[in-house]
Amino acid sequence: MAFTLTVNGKTHVIESSEDTPLLYVLRDELGLNGAKYGCGVGQCGACTVLRDGAPLRSCLAPAAAQRGHELTTLEGLQGPEGALHTLQKAFLAEQAGQCAYCIPGMILAAEALLRAHPQPSEAEIRATLDSHLCRCGSHNRIVRAIQRAAK
Ligand code: FES
Repeated sequence: MAFTLTVNGKTHVIESSEDTPLLYVLRDELGLNGAKYGCGVGQCGACTVLRDGAPLRSCLAPAAAQRGHELTTLEGLQGPEGALHTLQKAFLAEQAGQCAYCIPGMILAAEALLRAHPQPSEAEIRATLDSHLCRCGSHNRIVRAIQRAAK
């Protein structure tokens, strides 16, 4: 089937089966590799993107069901000429990534949090990241990065 998707402000015509996960379309059809395949069952958060500003696990969400929504991937956060987003700068400053596989999903979850709560408490940050897994154990640095971005 053919349908349109709006990703990072651009509209794309997509041809895929009705149940193809959004993650596959983003990565394989649109070349947007920010969202990562981790668990594939909605439990790790590596595939997180924003749908109308709210976090969405793209490994579970059918692409065809996203018609009419505004989708944002990590690539959509960058400024003019590829300038890093405030959260990206903060993650680098805090050296919050080791393997960094989880970081795109963490950054998008943090972006949704900061839009809703520009000055979140540490407890709010930890609650937001509770369902995002980091096998390197960088969680404390990630929390500090989000606190830095909120300043
Ligand atoms: Fe989607 Fe893990 S890959 S939640």
